[in-house]
Amino acid sequence: MSETWWRGAAIYQVYLRSFADGNGDGIGDLAGLRSRLPYLSDLGVDAIWLNPWYPSPMADGGYDVADYRDIEPSFGTLAEAEKFIQEAHALGIRTIIDIVPNHGSDQQKWFIDALAAGPGSPERERFWFAEGRGDEPPSDWKSIFGGPAWTRVPDGQWYLHLFAPEQPDFNWSNPEVIAEFEDVLRFWFDRGVDGIRIDSAAVLIKDFDSVEESYTDHDAVHEIYRGWRQIADEYGERILIGEVWLPDQERFALYLRPDEMHTAFNFDFMARPWEADELRASIDMTLATHVPISAPPTWVLSNHDVPRPVSKYGRAVTSFDHAERRDGAPSDLVLGERRARAAALLAMSLPGTVYVYQGEELGLPEVDDIPDELRQDPIWTRSKQTVPGRDGCRVPLPWSGQEPPFGYSTGEPWLPQPAFWKSLTAESQATDSNSMLCLYRTALRIRRTELGDGSLRWLDSEDGVLAFARDSGLACVVNFNTHPVQLPPHDSVLLASGALEGNELPSDTAVWLRIS
Ligand code: GLC
Ligand code: CA
Repeated sequence: MSETWWRGAAIYQVYLRSFADGNGDGIGDLAGLRSRLPYLSDLGVDAIWLNPWYPSPMADGGYDVADYRDIEPSFGTLAEAEKFIQEAHALGIRTIIDIVPNHGSDQQKWFIDALAAGPGSPERERFWFAEGRGDEPPSDWKSIFGGPAWTRVPDGQWYLHLFAPEQPDFNWSNPEVIAEFEDVLRFWFDRGVDGIRIDSAAVLIKDFDSVEESYTDHDAVHEIYRGWRQIADEYGERILIGEVWLPDQERFALYLRPDEMHTAFNFDFMARPWEADELRASIDMTLATHVPISAPPTWVLSNHDVPRPVSKYGRAVTSFDHAERRDGAPSDLVLGERRARAAALLAMSLPGTVYVYQGEELGLPEVDDIPDELRQDPIWTRSKQTVPGRDGCRVPLPWSGQEPPFGYSTGEPWLPQPAFWKSLTAESQATDSNSMLCLYRTALRIRRTELGDGSLRWLDSEDGVLAFARDSGLACVVNFNTHPVQLPPHDSVLLASGALEGNELPSDTAVWLRIS
């Protein structure tokens, strides 16, 4: 296994709770995932990133961690997790887990101890407890999920939570917190984990002198990741991947210094509308940030926090915005799928790492009609039921058969699957060479030998077209226009996201060409 496998890797994101259920309780689990490892191996991914798999009351889909050194019982056991890591390795697939350092669960032992120990205790110093202003919270800071960022406890003090009240923030100026997480990292590296995805990585340090929320990207955060990098390096070949949402590219690049993280998610690319100029600008900006510091860029079309590409690209407004999520906005799914296929070839041919969020390879749309009473995302309740939130991209996968639960479970899935997903099951797509699944498989296979790490050269093209060549002599051309365009000179066509019309590339279609 090479030192730099991660520079060009294709990483598949598993939202365990919705991937495959092994015991019929409707909740995805490790048994289900292990049984589907051959599927992931056939798909051709280099690594799996799992969303948090720790014991959790699931106030935020597992991002409220109650014990960082164990496995959620409904997902399986620690022994099973270790088996999974070994079985994946045997197939040449690495495991990346999610570490949530900004906050724990209110059911975590530390927080329970802090409540019991009372004001002024060392136990409370692990969190941000403070006195209020009379009956008002200590400050007017707002939670990212809506509502105030402070919650009061029975003895009158308040604690800070940037997310839900069930997710108290840790005090990262306390050396005990630093030591605890370094130990957690070792715990998992000792069990064979190959990488860590760092949740909400830029918000760990708070500045309470500020009246406005002040927690994003304070300089002191870098010291934490320097410590983590030393540990990763001690183990060798272990990587750190940051969830860093920062528009300022200079500040973003600081996280990728040689003694910090290896890579960080490229959310700018993910959030841009389906327009040639916008995506070209994002690609150029990304390369300008990464190339000088020799960090590989990452390309992300979706994850468990954002709308599914097929739905997003079929809407009148095709960008993504946290402030205005556009959940449930009408979407032309035929158009959206066409664009999502082209977007996949674009993302997979750019230099660096690519992420595939489970179900993206099946072309699943966002599920907008989940019954209100089944919605679980805290954004839904915290927004007073005005923002549906992220459940629509977390619906359990359709594997096989003609009706729900589509081979996902023998019981009732924790979120209902639409009946029309019968045409989107992995089984039905596997034998249809025009399916999204076959497109992903073929593209990932070609990508493995030809693409990934390296550089890009833009080719001349007309307005509304992106065209570039990679070192291997593969060119990617994407037509964003409403009219077809001529293909550039080429030796052969390797793969296209839709049928070509003679020597023309139709609207919203991408092609990979061999050029000399
Ligand atoms: C990250 C996760 C998201 C979670 C939040 C709080 O943004 O991706 O799912 O809700 O952090 O942990
Ligand atoms: Ca289960």
